[in-house]
Amino acid sequence: MFMPSATLATTARRQLQAASHARHCLRTRWIQHHASQRKLPPLVFTFDIDGVLLRGPHTIPAARRALDMLNGANPMGVKIPFILLTNGGGVGEEARRHKLSSQLGVEIHSNQIVQAHTILKSVVHKYADKPVLVLGGRNDVVRKVAEGYGFKKAYTTLDVLAWKPEVWPFHQLTPEERASTKPVDFSQTPISAIFVFHDPRNWALDTQVIVDVIRSGGIIGGSYLDTPPPSEQQPLSHHHQPSGELEGKNKHVELVFCNPDLLWKSDFPQPRLGQGAFREAFQAVYKALVGKTYPYIQYGKPTTATYKFAEKVLKDRLEELQGGRVEQMPTVYMVGDNPESDIAGANGAGWPSILVRTGVYDPAGGPPAHTPTYIAEDVEEAVRWAIEREMGRTATSS
Ligand code: G3P
Ligand code: MG
Repeated sequence: MFMPSATLATTARRQLQAASHARHCLRTRWIQHHASQRKLPPLVFTFDIDGVLLRGPHTIPAARRALDMLNGANPMGVKIPFILLTNGGGVGEEARRHKLSSQLGVEIHSNQIVQAHTILKSVVHKYADKPVLVLGGRNDVVRKVAEGYGFKKAYTTLDVLAWKPEVWPFHQLTPEERASTKPVDFSQTPISAIFVFHDPRNWALDTQVIVDVIRSGGIIGGSYLDTPPPSEQQPLSHHHQPSGELEGKNKHVELVFCNPDLLWKSDFPQPRLGQGAFREAFQAVYKALVGKTYPYIQYGKPTTATYKFAEKVLKDRLEELQGGRVEQMPTVYMVGDNPESDIAGANGAGWPSILVRTGVYDPAGGPPAHTPTYIAEDVEEAVRWAIEREMGRTATSS
């Protein structure tokens, strides 16, 4: 049936009016319900950083609008709590919060941030007094982060190179790198574990040193023992100690990676290789040398350990805001750009997940490998969609 354009416009206007009226009623009913209950809002957020809020050094414009909404400019009219959960890192949480607060234009608290290595705070008690290697980032920044967590004997691969340049003859320490090193005699310092905190800057040096530590049972420069993996190791008993050898040799050296991302989104058109790519490169070299890959512990999204850790950080934050125990957690919405880490992890944690198109995920490549609850253009649309979804739910349940 032909409808003159004037009629069409009137109908559209009426429909718009009806929709905003419906939204208004929803809002009023919702606020009345929650005002009487004085509860936490029904939803809280966990945001990924790279590809959602930032692209390299640049703030994604939608991020500020989304954070404004969480700050109260939303149909619920209340502040909505959130934390940041990133596979990035390389600096302490305090330094990161300062930088993020200025990049995002809102005050971020250090207990609102979970970086790839933050979870190591929960395992440091096992290694506090033992010599460990910490890898990644610039110069000795991750050593300072590790010391801040409680690692008392944290060494870098630059320390190793300063000790014996022949460990890796293809890199000469820059004055800045040399200034960051600590004098250590690694022939007398059995390394018990290697922690890859952040993306290594010198893959070749770090690969060489990891191989040296693992194959010699912890003593860099010691003879290679090719320690069999734990499953094949016979329990050590005192008479197995080769005489004259240092205590601690022959032990399995723990290898811990904090971020499994093969790719991540910075300000370059194509995603960049991440710490996961370094892990794959190391394992390929190790396998070529020893015939098998080396067992390792993986933290970071999508691991269950990291999502459980993040959930605890979020609950502590809500209890701080609420000033008391939170009996029932609100719905946690995860907003991320990487299906492999953000969406897979959230789905594993039972959280609704929202995939945005501002980062690693490229719709041109087909459906994501892990199915999100919703796909949004950017973080602003993600926040708006989740709020309306929860308002709809609350209104129908009240
Ligand atoms: O190096 C960081 C990168 O792997 C991803 O960071 O914030 O997207 O988890 P993010
Ligand atoms: Mg990301």
